Amino acid sequence: MTTWPSLDAIAAAVRSCRACDLHRTRTQAVPGEGPADARVMLIGEAPGYHEDRTGRPFVGAAGKTLDALLARAGLRREQVFITNIVKCRPPKNRDPRPAEIAACRPYLQAQITLLDPGLLILLGRFALGLFLPGARIGEWHGKPVRRGRRWLVPMYHPAAALYRPALKTVLEADFAAVAPLVAQVLGTPPATAAR
Ligand code: URA
Ligand code: SF4
Repeated sequence: MTTWPSLDAIAAAVRSCRACDLHRTRTQAVPGEGPADARVMLIGEAPGYHEDRTGRPFVGAAGKTLDALLARAGLRREQVFITNIVKCRPPKNRDPRPAEIAACRPYLQAQITLLDPGLLILLGRFALGLFLPGARIGEWHGKPVRRGRRWLVPMYHPAAALYRPALKTVLEADFAAVAPLVAQVLGTPPATAAR
């Protein structure tokens, strides 16, 4: 496995990567961002139009939704590391292909290894499929799964809430329910503990 000495080194490699065909149609790659000591990491699917333009993850409509959801979990955007399974935008936002996911995987793996987060929030079915192959999002959303010394929590993708209002309610409840686990991972007592 390729290793890099830092998150910045991974980002630099991603920005000049040509390991799959998505590099041909991207404006720029989106490596992901967040503090190097983040305890919580979020993994989305792929950059969209605005992410491809700015080089930053979740800056479009789904990003606004995500910020509100993070608040329910007791998190601020500046505290978490956010990235995607594939770092370059698929044309017309089509689903990422298995070969693209495989080509991009070493970057995600290296980011996880370097950060060593206590909690991984998996946004959507592609992120779920990478960690729990065959698991269905309808069954696993909001359920924490222990993986060694890490917790994984699958969630519906925030973009799904934009066109399926019923899922917005589910997402809000799932993010609120994960707040105690977030507090545990951050090493702070949950805000509700005194009530
Ligand atoms: N959707 C994603 O999965 N990732 C982004 O960065 C933006 C939208
Ligand atoms: Fe490289 Fe990943 Fe972009 Fe493909 S999607 S070109 S593997 S950074």
